[in-house]
Amino acid sequence: MESLGLVNGNLVDLSENVVPMEDRGHQFGDGVYEVVKVYNGKCFALLPHLERLYRSLRAIKIPATYTFEELVEFHELLIEKSGISEGAIYLQITRGTAVRVHQFPDLVVPCLTMSIRGAKTVNTRLWEEGVSVTLIPDERWLRCDIKSLNLLGNILGKQLAKEAGCYEGVMVRDGQVTEGTSSNFFVVKDDVIWTYPATNLILKGITRTIVIDRLAKELELTVLEKAFTVDFLKGASEAFLSGTSTEIMPITKIDGAPVGDGTVGPITRRLQAAYTQLIDEECGRK
Ligand code: PDD
Repeated sequence: MESLGLVNGNLVDLSENVVPMEDRGHQFGDGVYEVVKVYNGKCFALLPHLERLYRSLRAIKIPATYTFEELVEFHELLIEKSGISEGAIYLQITRGTAVRVHQFPDLVVPCLTMSIRGAKTVNTRLWEEGVSVTLIPDERWLRCDIKSLNLLGNILGKQLAKEAGCYEGVMVRDGQVTEGTSSNFFVVKDDVIWTYPATNLILKGITRTIVIDRLAKELELTVLEKAFTVDFLKGASEAFLSGTSTEIMPITKIDGAPVGDGTVGPITRRLQAAYTQLIDEECGRK
């Protein structure tokens, strides 16, 4: 099987029409989501993803109607029943279905949808060679820390990047570089790794946290969670993106200008290797 869905605990085919017209996720983007990667038939870093899901739910006042154990079980069920060992699982929780009014309806039950898709196609070549990114204005709202289904700002930004022939759009707000449209952004300068602080203006990525709290510590690398300007990028020796799907992606060009000497830098390489090793260990890969 190449994909499989799950709606409120029941397995479905992804082509089935299961979401009602008046689901608030559909009509307002009133919901939150998560995505985890599956390696060797096991979810990677599922615990922090589910913790963030509950934080997102609390932030937009959707009651948690599924326990942690149930959500773990649904992930495992999708892997087992689909037979997919390499891929990704998306999970959405919306506020539920009700007659369309902006304010929260009184009687509404949250709706959980999940899907698994196999993805053998890894970005190995891009991970090796690095990618180009373009700087774009950050036109999103002020609660980018919530993993909300409202992704218009991110979608429009990613499209701008695509039209510029780039892998990712890196967003700039008030002159400061925040994050990618679906990834976090890091630069290396004088052997120090810089990334935007985890405020309301970025998503606190699970991969970002792994890089900062685990890999960089193991490798004895210094990380500074501090805002920096576009001008600062000119003196950077390396840059990279982090994200669940992106993993650790080297950046060799920003708006056509080479980063450092234009090749993938040594710190990025070490982080990539440590990340791969962590996946191997946690998911029993190899
Ligand atoms: N996106 N910033 C934004 C805006 C994101 O959408 C994502 C993830 C990240 C990285 O977070 P994490 O390391 O937890 O994946 C940062 C996911 C992959 C997506 O939308 O598909």
